[in-house]
Amino acid sequence: MLIHRTLLDGALCDLRVEEGRITALSAAPLTPLPGEEVLRGGLVSPPLAEPHVHLDAALLGEQAPNLSGTLREGIANWARLREALTEQDVLDRARRTLAMYRRWGCLRVRTHVDTGSELAVRALLALREEVRAQGVQLQVVAFPQEGILRAPGRREAWERAVELGCDAVGAIPHFERCTEEGWETVRLAFALAEKYDRLVDLHCDETDDPGSRNLEVACVETLKRGWAGRVIAGHCTSLHSQENPYAAKVIELVTHSGVQIVCNPLDNVVLQGRYDSYPKRRGLTRVDQLWAAGASVGFGHDSVMDPWYALGTANLVDAAYMAVHVCQLTSQEQMVRAVRTLWTDNHRCFGGQPSIVEGAATPLLWWEVADEVELLRTRPEPRVVG
Ligand code: FE2
Repeated sequence: MLIHRTLLDGALCDLRVEEGRITALSAAPLTPLPGEEVLRGGLVSPPLAEPHVHLDAALLGEQAPNLSGTLREGIANWARLREALTEQDVLDRARRTLAMYRRWGCLRVRTHVDTGSELAVRALLALREEVRAQGVQLQVVAFPQEGILRAPGRREAWERAVELGCDAVGAIPHFERCTEEGWETVRLAFALAEKYDRLVDLHCDETDDPGSRNLEVACVETLKRGWAGRVIAGHCTSLHSQENPYAAKVIELVTHSGVQIVCNPLDNVVLQGRYDSYPKRRGLTRVDQLWAAGASVGFGHDSVMDPWYALGTANLVDAAYMAVHVCQLTSQEQMVRAVRTLWTDNHRCFGGQPSIVEGAATPLLWWEVADEVELLRTRPEPRVVG
């Protein structure tokens, strides 16, 4: 196949793809070979990557409507549904959700799994192997949805999930009983990751409470171990509500430590601000300031029709689109960066973005759009090439 006069990183080029490899990449036009399929124009990119979703809860939203719209009700509703899970049900819903991701060009997915269900942990670890053969890379984070210190047995179940083979250690420090126990949770998560040589991926400060200050502890633990690139702090919405001098200090720590922030715009724009009257806070983390400071920020979809967020398509461009609106990232440069995040920073937890260079293996995506801004505006289905 020849992709003729297409846009790659803002420059026009021609690409030839043969038998799963890019065999030619040229700034000058290439001549089609006899019988070769030719795609004209558009934009090419690596496949997309999803840094944050919950496949164990996906597609269950209708069974547990979130009437208050709060994170806490979502957690309570999920805890009831969790009791009735079967391995087959978890696998079916996860497979269907991954199929949705593939349709939208996403071939790497990091899922959190609630360690309150060992059945779900085992199901998603098995699925990780199953989908590898289909060209999908799945990572599983051991996520203790209701915390590890609030009730007996939770810490043990969380450790067991890591022992079973989860790729990363999760935590939810802002949901623990008190500030100190939240900080202790962060430290325990790092210690567990060190013991089993795993990555760290925290649900961190997903609250409008400016007193929720777990991100700075995560940064310090990362700095102490020199774990730049190994740690994700997801949500970080308290940063939205904190005083500017404190936020400036923490953002500097984030950049210095190499912790990646994953913003989940679709969920957080509806979950945050629920205790406000008017004005209501938008509640997303400070993407513009993190970018300006040189931090790495990913965009996650987080929920696909689950007890926290009844909508969701598994199209990551929707997450970028929401972030652009709610975080007011509407300069040309910011919109382009928001879209490119899906195939650049979003790959960080998988070892970095795939390169589009001569000799590289495909697949790649071909989008029938004029540029990144049109991609964002129209959110089309890409063609997966190779
Ligand atoms: Fe999440």
